[in-house]
Amino acid sequence: MNRSDKMVLGINGGALGGHLGGWRHPDSFPDTTMRLERMVDTAVTAEQGKFDFMFLADGNGVRQMDKPLLFAANSPSDRPSVFEPVTLYAALSQHTKRIGFVATATTSYEEPFTIARKFASLDHLSGGRAAWNLVTTQYVEDAKNFNRDEHMGREERYERARESLDVVRSLWESWAEDAFLQDKATGQYLDPARVRLTDHRGKYFKVKGPLNVSRTPQGQPVVFMAGQSDDGKELAAYGGEGLFGTAASKQEAQAEYADIKGRMPKYGRPDEALKILPGLSIYVGRTSSEADELYDELQSLISPALGVTYLSKIVGMDLTNVPLDGPLPQKPAGQGLGGTAIGRSVHEMAEREGLSVRQAYERVLPAMAGNMVKGTPAQVVDFMEDWFRSQACDGFIL
Ligand SMILES: Cc1cc2nc3c(=O)[nH]c(=O)nc-3n(C[C@H](O)[C@H](O)[C@H](O)COP(=O)(O)O)c2cc1C
Repeated sequence: MNRSDKMVLGINGGALGGHLGGWRHPDSFPDTTMRLERMVDTAVTAEQGKFDFMFLADGNGVRQMDKPLLFAANSPSDRPSVFEPVTLYAALSQHTKRIGFVATATTSYEEPFTIARKFASLDHLSGGRAAWNLVTTQYVEDAKNFNRDEHMGREERYERARESLDVVRSLWESWAEDAFLQDKATGQYLDPARVRLTDHRGKYFKVKGPLNVSRTPQGQPVVFMAGQSDDGKELAAYGGEGLFGTAASKQEAQAEYADIKGRMPKYGRPDEALKILPGLSIYVGRTSSEADELYDELQSLISPALGVTYLSKIVGMDLTNVPLDGPLPQKPAGQGLGGTAIGRSVHEMAEREGLSVRQAYERVLPAMAGNMVKGTPAQVVDFMEDWFRSQACDGFIL
């Protein structure tokens, strides 16, 4: 297997961090809502730390209003008030030079033309540092902000996503590099022979083109994905260049890695064309007891009532009336719309290890249901290196 020796590292750049208690920690920013300077601070620190990219997850709806306790506490992935990510990165690009910017946009509710346009624009503004995290939207309620009463089913979402990806990439090919002559002497601003139409007529989209943005520094901005279902993995094999993951153990990560890379040859893609990056939450200290202290401090900022509500959200069922020290109930059969692989993996973990509701939320809180490592810098790095060398990943999203 051809593999680069270099681990790809991204940082989840939300100013709240990944732990529900994180924003309450005395060392955290005193305020974060719509504060550009906090995001600049994060981006500049990540760039100094030599991260390859900063990532911002996103959605198009305010969540958890039916869970007032959690809503009031603002869990990290709920984002009741955040900058639109591409707009924000346009600003951050002016304060940084090298770090890549991965912004989320959904193919379920955005048109491919709009997606192609805004990422091409960001690629120009940032000097070739734009990347699109293609999602099909995780939260079913977002549909209600886009003329729909219900979220699309998974199959339709992914079929649409694939068509949208093809259209976006075709639009990015609209202009030749040298199309804009801007020749004052001859009066020729552009060369009409150096632009092509997309002329797409498919099941979901009709798009003529061309894009109204010249060829970008990267030509094609990078495409990330984050789907964890079978359809999500297939789409990543087909066209993703980065894929976020949620594997909770090395064995699980290795199996996913082999599975996804094994799907690539049929699309004529070498396996190094897609970087698989599981999520990893890190609790680091100069000594391992210092790391333990930080971890315990963060955990102590979450009351059991809040922890249970958070777990209810993650697994997609109401656990507030279930005994705290009784077993986590299994989800009733039948897959609803949306529903995430993260929720499914928590159920599997709880069943495998016989976890109570309390133990399940204590495990889910610090790891955002992915993996977590706690210790000295050397211990953290050893952990990461072991996964990388064991073909469990090509890097991490931290
Ligand atoms: C690290 C990571 C980040 C994600 N970011 C987003 C996001 O910003 N917006 C979103 O709608 N879904 C996000 N997802 C979820 C997936 O993109 C996907 O929508 C979800 O898992 C449901 O699709 P699936 O059924 O293929 O898993 C993320 C998942 C992971 C693992």
